[in-house]
Amino acid sequence: MRLQNKVALITGAGDGIGRGIAIRFAAEGAKVGVLDINEKKCHETADLIREKGGQAMPLVVDVCQPDQVQWAVETLVNKFGPINVAVNNAAVMPAGKVHETSLEDFERAVAVNLRGAFLVDREVIPIMLQQRSGSIIHMSSITGILGLPGIAIYSATKGALAALTRAMSTDYAAEGIRVNSVSPGTIDSPMLHNFVAAQRDQERIRRAFDEMHPVGRVGTIDEVANVFVFLASDEASFVTGANYTVDGGLSVKGEQPQD
Ligand SMILES: NC(=O)c1ccc[n+]([C@@H]2O[C@H](COP(=O)([O-])OP(=O)(O)OC[C@H]3O[C@@H](n4cnc5c(N)ncnc54)[C@H](O)[C@@H]3O)[C@@H](O)[C@H]2O)c1
Repeated sequence: MRLQNKVALITGAGDGIGRGIAIRFAAEGAKVGVLDINEKKCHETADLIREKGGQAMPLVVDVCQPDQVQWAVETLVNKFGPINVAVNNAAVMPAGKVHETSLEDFERAVAVNLRGAFLVDREVIPIMLQQRSGSIIHMSSITGILGLPGIAIYSATKGALAALTRAMSTDYAAEGIRVNSVSPGTIDSPMLHNFVAAQRDQERIRRAFDEMHPVGRVGTIDEVANVFVFLASDEASFVTGANYTVDGGLSVKGEQPQD
């Protein structure tokens, strides 16, 4: 049990990778606050954890709203005690080049992906400062490092999260709070399924996602959750300011003409 006695808050835990992280954390002994804007899915994740004997509390919130985030943190602390781990995973991904992106989509992406993390961090840091320990993990993406086509605004928010991670790690290292980010490549998740479903030639696009990664396939939710468990645990006690790529080698792949 690598997260025994830890209280963890996970945003966007109603579905996809966030749900996978929440289930893994609970299996490792953490008491988990499941935050999501989708009421049904939020409760589903908490129920799945409880059915397996874990401890979870569903908290239906929009991470963009300061009063809702404040309420969720207070409610979680009252139920399970001081928060040790915060995972900022909730995100939206508007598609399109910059000139095709509406101001509304731009503002929503910045609000959920960046402002949401700021609002959560702002609430949990005073609690972690009191304990002189804590682990904050931002869900970045390989798109925050590489220039992938058609998702510029999403990519910008993910790059910002990696920069926020580096700056925050310096601010809080001496106080015992570690801040790291994780940058997955393409992961077999609802976000990928929705993206592929919106394409004309779905089979070809899905195959291209596999082939894009040097390991020859997209990643699994569990493969991402493994890294979050490590960063949340005391095994990562000397790890702060890092951005872990979990991308099957995509971000270091070079190209060379071959016969
Ligand atoms: N799927 C991938 O291939 C991939 C790759 C790299 C990074 N990521 C990142 O991983 C994270 C999870 O991705 P996913 O594929 O599981 O996405 P997903 O769309 O399946 O899940 C996102 C969750 O966030 C919730 N959410 C959205 N807006 C919210 C808000 N305002 N307040 C609270 N909850 C909100 C949604 O309801 C959903 O449950 C995201 O940060 C994404 O950018 C995903």
